[in-house]
Amino acid sequence: MSKTMPGTKDRNTLAYPGFGLGLRPDHYRDFLDGPQPVEWLEIISENFMVPGGKPLAMLDAIRADYPMVLHGVSLSIGSVEPLDRGYLAELKALAERVEPLWVSDHLCWTGINAHNSHDLLPLPYDAPTLDCVIDNISRVQDYLGRRILIENPSSYVTFRASDRSEWEFLAEMATRADCLLLLDVNNIYVSARNHGFHPHDYLVGLPAGRVQQIHLAGHSDMGDYVIDTHDADVCDAVWELYADACGLFGPVATMIERDDDIPPLAALIAELDHARAVAARMCEPYYV
Ligand SMILES: [Fe+2]
Repeated sequence: MSKTMPGTKDRNTLAYPGFGLGLRPDHYRDFLDGPQPVEWLEIISENFMVPGGKPLAMLDAIRADYPMVLHGVSLSIGSVEPLDRGYLAELKALAERVEPLWVSDHLCWTGINAHNSHDLLPLPYDAPTLDCVIDNISRVQDYLGRRILIENPSSYVTFRASDRSEWEFLAEMATRADCLLLLDVNNIYVSARNHGFHPHDYLVGLPAGRVQQIHLAGHSDMGDYVIDTHDADVCDAVWELYADACGLFGPVATMIERDDDIPPLAALIAELDHARAVAARMCEPYYV
């Protein structure tokens, strides 16, 4: 089996870099002290949008050994307010410093009237919102000079105004804006449980050739609903959904996204090895 990459001829993505982790301060020392079995790292953009000092020195030192991707939480791509030019300038400067494989943010809005809610707020899935999001993505891509990835959110409410599913919204958005998708498989599971759709329907409704990256994470199961807490191991149901995604999309850059109750790096690498095993099993038909 050769390791040349995926056989889907309609693939519209960037190069496939393998398996990564979200870089968290708890593990800076591990990455500085020696090589780790990780092909790339994802950083939270806003943590490094600073004028200088220790965060950037740490970033430069680790970047010297690992390719990186930028993952933002404040782009507010679904807002009807004008994009924040200051934020975009800082993001562009960070991208010039890091030279990331790609830049991503979320399908959401985060604030209004210069107030940042620090939450990824949900959007109605209708035509006016779609036009707004596509226009914003196009502006960001033109400004940054690169295609961006947009991540599916986890959600807890829906809107009466929505006239299409989230996956239909994402599919049309990605095609019309010519952007890529960051697929958070845990978010699909969380939203499916909260809203009662079947997660497989979600996966098959997406444009496979635009799925560039996958997030895997843990959540809190409250019984009647699920909260996207990123503070636990990936659960069996999410691993099954990941296998389903691998079978549908072929090899996709995959990482573990852990934001709370951070375990030792070895535990996350063990989870990543499990992802490698699932992907190797499910993606075999994609290798020639
Ligand atoms: Fe995510």
